[in-house]
Amino acid sequence: MLIETVNMCRIYNKRSGSVAALTDVSLTIEQGEFAVLTGASGSGKSTLMNILGFLDLPDSGSYYFDGKDICAMSDSEISRIRNLRIGFVFQSFNLIPELTALENAALPLEYRGIPRKRRRAIAAEALNTVGLSHRLDHKPYELSGGQQQRVAIARALAADPQVILADEPCGNLDSKAGGEIMRLLCELNRQGKTLILITHDEHAAKMGSRLIKIKDGRVYEG
Ligand SMILES: Nc1ncnc2c1ncn2[C@@H]1O[C@H](COP(=O)(O)OP(=O)(O)OP(=O)(O)O)[C@@H](O)[C@H]1O
Ligand SMILES: [Mg+2]
Repeated sequence: MLIETVNMCRIYNKRSGSVAALTDVSLTIEQGEFAVLTGASGSGKSTLMNILGFLDLPDSGSYYFDGKDICAMSDSEISRIRNLRIGFVFQSFNLIPELTALENAALPLEYRGIPRKRRRAIAAEALNTVGLSHRLDHKPYELSGGQQQRVAIARALAADPQVILADEPCGNLDSKAGGEIMRLLCELNRQGKTLILITHDEHAAKMGSRLIKIKDGRVYEG
């Protein structure tokens, strides 16, 4: 299995008190799965997604990715595995405003030390896949919301990740643009990418092969 968490807990400690954002989360996800994560606001979805994508670590319990114990890794190993294996798509797109679509999509490859010309060719190909080959030189503010999200998907794709983590990717889009983004994500899953999607949208949730519910930081299947 690709992802395995065992009794994972995450507690945010604040001066005003501590918040148990995740409690005893034990979850396995296989390579190629399309898992949908749903739950009320504040239930812990993004916290879980951030840990699965190595942006955060659990306070207790274990997380094994491809058999490797993440909590035993150094920061540089964690950054490396994140860059190589994980593609993120966020509700707010998280593009760099000063960079063009092409430069944004090429960015993860820069961290890998891939030469500029090659990076740009891979990024252009990824932007072509998401239907944006006519917008390579546009900056984020010169693109529609749906187009910006497609750049974010191209940025994930350019890095050829094993897993795509999408946290409310259609949350800021109208239903037409959101539908296009969902079609794109489904197609990537058909091509073999493991997809973990957070959504409040029932229609989008039905596209997954598996529904994981989260309530008050605990995970329930079904
Ligand atoms: N950095 C933080 N510091 C302190 N508490 C936090 C932090 N991030 C999240 N929390 C708390 O942890 C709980 C889970 O938050 P999380 O963001 O995972 O929820 P969510 O399910 O993604 O919600 P939403 O659907 O609104 O995005 C919430 O009660 C939240 O207030
Ligand atoms: Mg969230």
